[in-house]
Amino acid sequence: MKNRSSRIMIGAGWGTVGLPGVFSLCLFFFLTGFFGSTLFSQQDELSLRPRLLEKAEEENKVFDPLPHGVTGEASLSSIPFQILSWHPRALYFPKFATAEQCGSIIIQARKHLAPSALALRKGETAESTKGTRTSSGMFISASEDKTGVLDSIEEKIAKATMLPRRHGEAFNVLRYEIGQRYHSHYDAFSPSEYGPQKSQRVASFLLYLSDVEEGGETMFPFENGQNMADYDFRKCIGLKVKPQRGDGLLFYSLFTNGTIDPTSLYGSCPVIKGEKWVATKWIRDQEHLD
Ligand SMILES: *[C@@H]1O[C@H](CO)[C@@H](O)[C@H](O)[C@H]1NC(C)=O
Repeated sequence: MKNRSSRIMIGAGWGTVGLPGVFSLCLFFFLTGFFGSTLFSQQDELSLRPRLLEKAEEENKVFDPLPHGVTGEASLSSIPFQILSWHPRALYFPKFATAEQCGSIIIQARKHLAPSALALRKGETAESTKGTRTSSGMFISASEDKTGVLDSIEEKIAKATMLPRRHGEAFNVLRYEIGQRYHSHYDAFSPSEYGPQKSQRVASFLLYLSDVEEGGETMFPFENGQNMADYDFRKCIGLKVKPQRGDGLLFYSLFTNGTIDPTSLYGSCPVIKGEKWVATKWIRDQEHLD
């Protein structure tokens, strides 16, 4: 009953004010609202600007570069990264290289691609390991790249890891086409399987040179100790990292005491759609001459 009567009252109100009245009322509220808000926002902007300036100055004060040593640098650098895991120690570097840099590496590598090889364990043959690594690849050192792209990327990797450039192998540029993969493996060479090693791979830096529409993830099946009891090394499980052009992935194969981290097992899932290009830099505990 109540609802009904109030509806009738509104109806009556409309009748008395009339349409032109309602229109001018609306216009009035609109104009006060409009001018009111621009006034307020102008005030906001004025008070915000000095505050932003203050903030920038404060940050400069906090991060003033120190006097540096002979091999140090005069300015601060910043390389953003995300920790993906502590077991294994894996970090992700978004936008580590530009799209142009990635394109330049692909152009140089494409003409020299050959089927990727495997380091064989004792007792293994090329035939017995067929299908484990089906990508194509080539090696190129920073000095062989006359465009200077690999030189600047290698320098940035050295900065991000603080492992000197002399400890790195040449870049291994790889292409995975649809269906191609790399079964799970260690980058470090276990002496019990491969015999005594003069030098060991400490860390691997993967620079993704292309986006992959589907598949082609880098996977760590033993991340944080999972799946270690019974794992089929062909399975694509565990922590998966989707390749994105220009982004970098760094992980350590060795513990700080020099033994192999069992959770650093990794592989490349089959590409389902698209093409995967990656430049790998293996970094050793000894200086490495290509
Ligand atoms: C090396 O370090 C790892 C991780 O801290 C540890 O689990 C392992 O027992 C160590 N090995 C030796 C031989 O000290």
